[in-house]
Amino acid sequence: SLAGGGVLLSPFGFPSIAAAQLSPQIPRFQLPFRVPPVLKPQRSDDTTDYYEITIQKSAIEILPGLKTEIWGYNGISPGPTIRQRGGKRSEGGRFSKVRFINQLDKDAQGRPINHVIHLHGMASLPQYDGYAIDYIPPQYFKDYIYPNDRAATLWYHDHTLDLTSRNVYMGLAGMYIVEDDYELNLPLPKGEYDVPLIIQDKRLASDGSLIFNDNNQRSLYGDVILVNGVPWPQMQVANRKYRFRILNASASRNYRLVLSQKPEAQTSGERLIVIGSDGGLLASPVELVAPLQGLQIGMAERYDVVIDFSKYPIGSQLYLRNVASGTVDNDVRTHTIMRFDVVRQEPDDSIIPNQLRPVDSLTDKPIARTRNFRFERNNGQWKINNLTWDSKRVDANPQPGDVEIWELVNPGSGWIHPVHIHLVDLQLLDRNGLPPRPYERGWKDVFLVGEFETVRVIAQFRSRDNRDIKGKFMMHCHNLVHEDHAMMTQFEIGQGGPDPVTTAPALPIS
Ligand code: C2O
Ligand code: CU
Repeated sequence: SLAGGGVLLSPFGFPSIAAAQLSPQIPRFQLPFRVPPVLKPQRSDDTTDYYEITIQKSAIEILPGLKTEIWGYNGISPGPTIRQRGGKRSEGGRFSKVRFINQLDKDAQGRPINHVIHLHGMASLPQYDGYAIDYIPPQYFKDYIYPNDRAATLWYHDHTLDLTSRNVYMGLAGMYIVEDDYELNLPLPKGEYDVPLIIQDKRLASDGSLIFNDNNQRSLYGDVILVNGVPWPQMQVANRKYRFRILNASASRNYRLVLSQKPEAQTSGERLIVIGSDGGLLASPVELVAPLQGLQIGMAERYDVVIDFSKYPIGSQLYLRNVASGTVDNDVRTHTIMRFDVVRQEPDDSIIPNQLRPVDSLTDKPIARTRNFRFERNNGQWKINNLTWDSKRVDANPQPGDVEIWELVNPGSGWIHPVHIHLVDLQLLDRNGLPPRPYERGWKDVFLVGEFETVRVIAQFRSRDNRDIKGKFMMHCHNLVHEDHAMMTQFEIGQGGPDPVTTAPALPIS
């Protein structure tokens, strides 16, 4: 029932269609905003909270009146949010143990749908987490133990070799929030005023099914923007401060976010205050000095932002918009994301402290070495230092505890690569020798590397809770289409670490 003709069967069995095909029209800012449910532990003991998540197909309503088949954690997309008490053990920090059960069966070609879990931003105990060939096959499960060593906005998603873009696009992504004593004691907005915003783009056929079109392995764009799974939602807010945990969970779309009183072309740049990035709170809040230029958020990046609605009278409407420019691969520009309607009066005792959380600099430690990684396309493939992924090859070998500077280079035009490095939190030193944007000065694990840019980052190669770690971890472009084909490499910390595939294999269900 696809309109417009030009139907081909993509290698994934999705209808791949003429680029001009648009999703059915949906009224904007009519559908009510919602947040993914918070997952309750099945049980808890002195040290650990135990969760269970089933990976399964289901049919949900994305477009009003139509059913869309998705692959979801517990059958929903985004998956349930895990909100976990973490931090130092001495301050009440707790482990989590999450059992992921794969109940997916086969894809359109009859191949089993394997699954790989990655908690983006935290390594599991014991290793591994997110290694791209560490599969949970259908009818298998695997338990992951997470240390939750510091407060941050993280997310979990599929990481299957060559098929991550398909699997995440089909719905396999969810948020994972770690809270700790330090952060809970700050007077920031909390509870119902601490709200996830998971932004994704999709394209849907007139029968509601998802259209996967990766433009010959270049990029995957949708023409419908969803927030927490709802197209262009309307959120009713009180006239007070809210904390929004913004995650860009899109496959290939990069956003520059502005808050505006107008829905279209000309904008008023309203105040956005960034308080956190990928790895937790910034040292101090950053108010966007040029709000019309927006907050740049690449794929997989997270920014925690406070919006103060108290300066807008009841009845005001504000739009979250995308002002990213540049059009590639038949991307239908979609500039609006959601609307906030200020509908009620409420007291507000929250405060944004001038000092949020110290961010210790790594630059005063001895630098063991500098490495250089070039991200570029040639011969129709996405490559790092002219190589594609090979699980048998290791391209960097830092020793446990070493501090290294990595230069991430994008020598080409037309592409921005959001580079993600597993295991470690890093700091951005400079872009083409110039200081990072003020909101990039905290702990991060994804770095947008723009056209003709060299981005220098620094990290200490150990776990975030300061355990020495050995083993293999990946680095890749988080444009999921680039990652799949196959802009991904691995580094190995030390020698003789556990094998990523055989150390803790998945087990059959009963
Ligand atoms: Cu968010 Cu290696 O992934
Ligand atoms: Cu890329």
